[in-house]
Amino acid sequence: MFRNYFLFTLITTLFLLSQACKHDPVFTLLDEDTPLTPIDTTGGPDTTLLTSDCDPDTVYFVNDIYPLFLSNCAISGCHDAETHEEGIVLSTYEDIIESDIIDIWDPTDCDLYEVITETGGDDRMPPPPMSKLTTAEIAMLVTWMEQGGLNNACTDCDTAAVTYSGTIAVILDAYCTGCHDHSTPAGDIDLTQYVGGASFEGVADVAEDGRLMGSLLFETEYIGMPQGATPLPSCLIDQVSAWVDAGYPDN
Ligand code: HEC
Repeated sequence: MFRNYFLFTLITTLFLLSQACKHDPVFTLLDEDTPLTPIDTTGGPDTTLLTSDCDPDTVYFVNDIYPLFLSNCAISGCHDAETHEEGIVLSTYEDIIESDIIDIWDPTDCDLYEVITETGGDDRMPPPPMSKLTTAEIAMLVTWMEQGGLNNACTDCDTAAVTYSGTIAVILDAYCTGCHDHSTPAGDIDLTQYVGGASFEGVADVAEDGRLMGSLLFETEYIGMPQGATPLPSCLIDQVSAWVDAGYPDN
């Protein structure tokens, strides 16, 4: 009897051990090695994750996170599709997921968190002389990962109270000036300036001749902007459009 019990225990233990080493799909379903598949590979937000009311406790990829990547990472000479420094492109949601730098199971132990919180040396991203992300921006990235790293968006869209300084400059700063600033004005267009100068054009110039809206709408005769990336959320395009239609005032 005792021997049988011993054998039974031994066999059960061996069985359990063999199961533990096996990659049973039930146990690996939420394994952190499981690649996170992009929710929407065409680039835009997953329409099932598009809500009209912006929940203050939710971090939205399209509204909050994507501008951070576009203005700090997916810029010319860094991680845009053309440069792909270190083989890393961060121009679209799909690129960000595939780059493997985020971890929704352990947000504070992933490559993204490591480089944005690095204090010294060349490892810090974005590298000097660009400034470090703010504590609030880092916290927002962590929350976004904790909430699943979704390709979500919300659309509290107000096109009535649009001003140049309060709306347009903020949009351009978030999505465009990584390539179109004063030191590296891509295509000789500096989108930090309302009016152009001798060697560059400003916002009013591209608003006037239709290039601003043409490129934002990815119209065929224009070069789609942001370059190599996904179009801006429709609400922001509508806000720029309302401002251009109003005669692009410098207000
Ligand atoms: C990754 C870098 C990058 C980003 C981000 C970017 N641009 Fe550009 N943009 C360029 C380059 C490079 C050119 C010049 C392309 C050429 O002439 O071949 C250009 C050209 C343009 C043009 C002229 C287009 C045309 O058809 O002649 C406009 C207008 C423009 N950008 C606006 C924007 C706006 C608005 C944003 C933000 C929503 C933006 N860009 C974001 C790189 C960028």
